[in-house]
Amino acid sequence: MARRVLIAGNWKMNTSRNEALALATSMLKRHSSAEVDCVIFPPVIWLEAVARVLAGSSVQVGAQDCSSEARGAFTGQIAPDMVRELGNWVIVGHSERRRDAGESDQLVGRKAAAALQADLTPIMCVGESLEVRESGNAEAFVGDQVDAILAENTSTPGDRLVFAYEPIWAIGTGRSASAEDAQTMAAFIRRRVGARGQGVRVLYGGSVTADNAPAYLVNPDVDGLLVGGASLKADQFLAILAAC
Ligand code: PGA
Repeated sequence: MARRVLIAGNWKMNTSRNEALALATSMLKRHSSAEVDCVIFPPVIWLEAVARVLAGSSVQVGAQDCSSEARGAFTGQIAPDMVRELGNWVIVGHSERRRDAGESDQLVGRKAAAALQADLTPIMCVGESLEVRESGNAEAFVGDQVDAILAENTSTPGDRLVFAYEPIWAIGTGRSASAEDAQTMAAFIRRRVGARGQGVRVLYGGSVTADNAPAYLVNPDVDGLLVGGASLKADQFLAILAAC
């Protein structure tokens, strides 16, 4: 089954309003490719302005997180259908949210379900710490994360599911996983999903650059990249897109 390549740029808590608009404007230089989805995730407060810059282009937008709830007394949270008014995508379960906001696998699964209910496509992040990898338990750990997320999304078709394998030790450290390790874990995640697995897209994320991107993308089970730091540099991110 052919799966579309997906290149995602997570700006995290970076950019002033002017910087965000300038970065979005430089994304308009992208040569559109029908086979590749390109999505950027600015800080949610700039999402509407960035979406306006990119309207009609081949670059899509999404939010870096959403609530598992649809409405109500949840100060500071953003409901999935609010995101849906501006974009089609959302990241859930990024390791920085798991670490800083104590998000559990179950909550991440519920966020993904709520996002899908609102017709957003969630990018569901999983990945082990260095300690877990060095103890030889990376697959067991990531497998449990995948199972917990799937338990909240039992009937979702595979082609609506996107996982991002992001080993925590590779995020923002300059120490990327080897292309072989990324392929091994992506294939493992696909098998773990089971019958729906062939349609599932699995991304790699963690210190991706224009230089190392091609090595990940040639792997049969790596369907794209979730890019942090390099997505803040227009030339780097455009070079990663050009490598697809
Ligand atoms: P990085 O971040 O590319 O800066 O390592 C990746 C991510 O957190 O998604």
